[in-house]
Parts: sequence; C-alpha cells; structure tokens
Amino acid sequence: MTIHTVTIEDDGSSYRCSDTLTLLEGMESLGKKGIPVGCRGGGCGVCKVHVLSGSYTKRVMSREHVSEQDEAQGCVLACRVRPTSAISLRVIGQMKKNVCRVVEPTVVPDLST
Ligand code: FES
Repeated sequence: MTIHTVTIEDDGSSYRCSDTLTLLEGMESLGKKGIPVGCRGGGCGVCKVHVLSGSYTKRVMSREHVSEQDEAQGCVLACRVRPTSAISLRVIGQMKKNVCRVVEPTVVPDLST
C-alpha cells in the first residue's frame, strides 16, 4: 500500500489517499462535512473531478457523465479512480460547493454616489 498526496487546487487543501482507496473515499476520510454520498459506482456524476496532474487507475464510468473526450482530458469520477502518484485536481461535480470552502468576495456597495 502506498499513500499519495492529493491536492485540491480549488481551495489549496490536500489530503493523503492510499492507492487502495478511491479519490472519493480519501476525500470522505478528510471529514469535510457535506460531501454528498452519491452512488459510489460511477453512475451519478456527483463526484466529477478534473485531474490536472498525476497518474491513476480507473474503472468503468457512466458515459452519461464522462464522455470519452472528458476522460481523455482527465475529467473523471472520483469514486472510480485510485491514485498511483501524487494527484492535483479540481472539483467540477456537484460536490464542489461542499468540498471547496471558497470564500466569495464580499461586494461592498459604493455609497459615495
Ligand atoms: S459517487 Fe456517483 S459517480 Fe461517483
């Protein structure tokens, strides 16, 4: 078993993920609240991520959520992918709002006019 570091580029956080776990299982072990538990079987598309760098093994994914072109570009379902090196990724599926604590800039109204 080898442990790899997975970096979530959206918010700069990272977690360690064993090569025996999927990226989604590793993310869940982070304990971040609100990660939706989807099908975990490559069918619902909730866990879609874009792998920017690193290598991984993958299992069959629903073509409804990941086209062959997506897959070739590294857009994959985290529940179907296990890391074989350090990984850098962006979250693009529905779980993004739960995984990434990106603080929206506060808009201060201009009262001078
Ligand atoms: S949890 Fe459903 S596709 Fe990953």
